[in-house]
Amino acid sequence: MSYQLNPLTSHGIGAEVRGIDLTQPVDDATRKQLNAEFARYHVLVIRNQKFGTEQFMAAGRVFGEIMPHHRKSGDFTSDTSVFEIFNQPIGDGKYYIAGETFHTDHSNDPVPPKATSLHPITLPSKGGDTQFVNMHNAYDDLSEAMKKRIDKLIAVHVYVSKYSPRALMKVDGDQAKKIPPPGLHPLVRIHPENGRKYLYLNPVRMEAIIGMPDDAALALIGELMAHATQKKYEYRHQWQYGDMVIWDNRSVMHQANADYDMNETRRLYRIMIKGQLHPSDTAATRDVRVNVEQRMPA
Ligand SMILES: [Fe+2]
Repeated sequence: MSYQLNPLTSHGIGAEVRGIDLTQPVDDATRKQLNAEFARYHVLVIRNQKFGTEQFMAAGRVFGEIMPHHRKSGDFTSDTSVFEIFNQPIGDGKYYIAGETFHTDHSNDPVPPKATSLHPITLPSKGGDTQFVNMHNAYDDLSEAMKKRIDKLIAVHVYVSKYSPRALMKVDGDQAKKIPPPGLHPLVRIHPENGRKYLYLNPVRMEAIIGMPDDAALALIGELMAHATQKKYEYRHQWQYGDMVIWDNRSVMHQANADYDMNETRRLYRIMIKGQLHPSDTAATRDVRVNVEQRMPA
């Protein structure tokens, strides 16, 4: 099975894939190749796909096992495998826009997802791009002093941080019970597939850095975020019908844009792919995990 691959930036983030139909079975060699491109480019834009929810999940399985969402949206599957993203009216002429500031998905999970993928159902006539930044390059460019400073730091990620720059949809009842205990993640992690170090940040969910006063932790996170979200690390995706965009939640952060006419609808299916911890993640957090889980129950 062959396809064409075109890099989308000169700085190693984003590649377009053409000439493949993921509603058809994918052979092992092609699966391996696509996963290698994914680990290299971090964001794949697979063009001209036409999916229902089952076909979208099948396409997602080329990259791994489907990871359920922490809460339900829509009625597409009997479980929480497929989520729906849309500009949701919340009263007083306001809208809830998922993912409006830079973040990585579900970092409050002890084992965060490898990847998230979106497939558009309805797009606004203009705007609504998704931006991605390359957290490998952002890490590589840090000063040696900063690398040394953050090398051993571990952050506590909760469902929504009291310091989050934006609100998340509330969860209650049975859905709240499914929220896992806080995720404990090093600020500097190693990618399990490409072996490169990357910065792992998420101001929406980072509640604390272990051993640091909150004001110092917030200042550090702010400084690292300002660095990591520079345009030189970015791929900005303009959506087209037929796109399957899949991104690596370890090596990129992403954000949605609410810059379109809210009288128009922007609606996408969303799935996630299960992740795995690198042995260095487990080693770094082993000593603090028990204490933090006792102190900060979900
Ligand atoms: Fe997101």
